[in-house]
Amino acid sequence: NHILEGDNNSTLMEIIRDEGLDIEAACGGCCACATCHVYIDDNWIDKIEPIWAASLETYLLEKSKHYNEKLSRLACQIEIKNEYNGLIVNLIKETS
Ligand code: FES
Repeated sequence: NHILEGDNNSTLMEIIRDEGLDIEAACGGCCACATCHVYIDDNWIDKIEPIWAASLETYLLEKSKHYNEKLSRLACQIEIKNEYNGLIVNLIKETS
C-alpha cells in the first residue's frame, strides 16, 4: 500500500505516475490509451465525479479484459479535489 499526496491541479494518474508507481499512462493523460485503468474502492466509487461526456472513457474501459462495470475508471480522467482525501484506488496492470 502507498499513501500518495497531490494537489488539486493534478489528475489521479499524474499523482500515481509522479510517485513512481507502476502505471503506464502511455498517452500521457489524453484519454486515448486506457493504460491508466484503475479500480476505485467500493466505498469511494459513488463519491467520485462520474465519467465525463460518458462515452470515450467508457469505450476505452470496456475494451479492457479487466473491465469492472462498477469500479473501473481511467485515472487520468479523475481530477483531484479536497473531497477525495482518503481515496482508495487499486492499480491494474494494463498493457497498451
Ligand atoms: Fe491514456 Fe489515461 S493515460 S487514457
